[in-house]
Amino acid sequence: MRTVEWDGDAVKMIDQRALPWELAFVRLETVEAVAESIRDMTVRGAPAIGAAAGFGMALAARQSAATTVEALIDELQSHAELLKSSRPTAVNLAWAVDKLMKIALSGEFKSADDMREVLLGAAQQIADDDVAVNSRMGSNGAALVRDGATILHHCNTGALATVDYGTALGVIRAAFERGKRIHVLLDETRPRLQGSRLSAWELEQLGISYDIIPDTAAGYYMGKGEVDIILVGADRIAANGDFANKIGTYQLAILAKEHRIPFYTVAPTSTIDLSLSSGAEIPIEERNPDEVTTPYGNRIVPETFRARNPAFDVTPQRYLTGIVTENGIARPPYSRSLARAVAGERLGGGE
Ligand code: MRU
Repeated sequence: MRTVEWDGDAVKMIDQRALPWELAFVRLETVEAVAESIRDMTVRGAPAIGAAAGFGMALAARQSAATTVEALIDELQSHAELLKSSRPTAVNLAWAVDKLMKIALSGEFKSADDMREVLLGAAQQIADDDVAVNSRMGSNGAALVRDGATILHHCNTGALATVDYGTALGVIRAAFERGKRIHVLLDETRPRLQGSRLSAWELEQLGISYDIIPDTAAGYYMGKGEVDIILVGADRIAANGDFANKIGTYQLAILAKEHRIPFYTVAPTSTIDLSLSSGAEIPIEERNPDEVTTPYGNRIVPETFRARNPAFDVTPQRYLTGIVTENGIARPPYSRSLARAVAGERLGGGE
């Protein structure tokens, strides 16, 4: 079962808003609906929204009535902007859209139909590659997890956040599949509760031992010596190693340093944005404050109460022990190791 896939002339995806109560699917037949599914978090997680946007571009091409290559390119350009504006922080979204747009602009097509076929193939390739890349990250990261370890995890970085398998949760899964006895402390991850709703649902399916904890309890367990390693995902990694991830990651990183706990982010090279020199340049999404005051439709404060809702924060690279990629584990200085990983060079540190 994949989180996002092509289905006939539509994009099919798990409706992540319905979990853990119901495993429901939606079938989207327009690029506008795909953009909305990213915005409203029917699909979420950096690699999953990248794959959804890739299929969204393929869908836009198939929907279009354009009969010439030039007319099709014109339409795709505006759909590319629509998709890219649906969520700003995860670079995988722009990465996938730009990849398809570059193919469209390659000048290699004799007809609009040729282009439609090739774009669908490229979108499918992005989805297939994501699964393969996650399995390689799992192998590379599993060696970091010792037998008997308790792992602290934030948000959801599993199969649901990707096309399948996952990034940080993929490393946890790989360690488990290699026979390591592990336990996972899952930050619930307010306000959208990706930890308690989605990561716990995934670990239930996999039979991996876990406890959901309030986000505010992470420091407590670190102080008691109950956390051996912290594994999180990333939505965008700048060239110097600073990275954006789900709100709350930054405070975990500082607590990890205080308690001398290894702190890793796990992300594919498609999440690395070498065009940004530091995390200060990463755009941070601010979502509707209703997600804080009225989580999942339950109003918990009066309507007149005000709230703010940043969806991500930036963790400076100095708090990181390393960055697990499909090409091995990047270590400081990140400006060099990340450039090598993006170039496809093999870094050390895997199995
Ligand atoms: O707002 P979300 O749920 O899309 O945020 C997801 C995260 O922050 C994940 O940690 C990140 O995308 C990496 S997941 C493979």
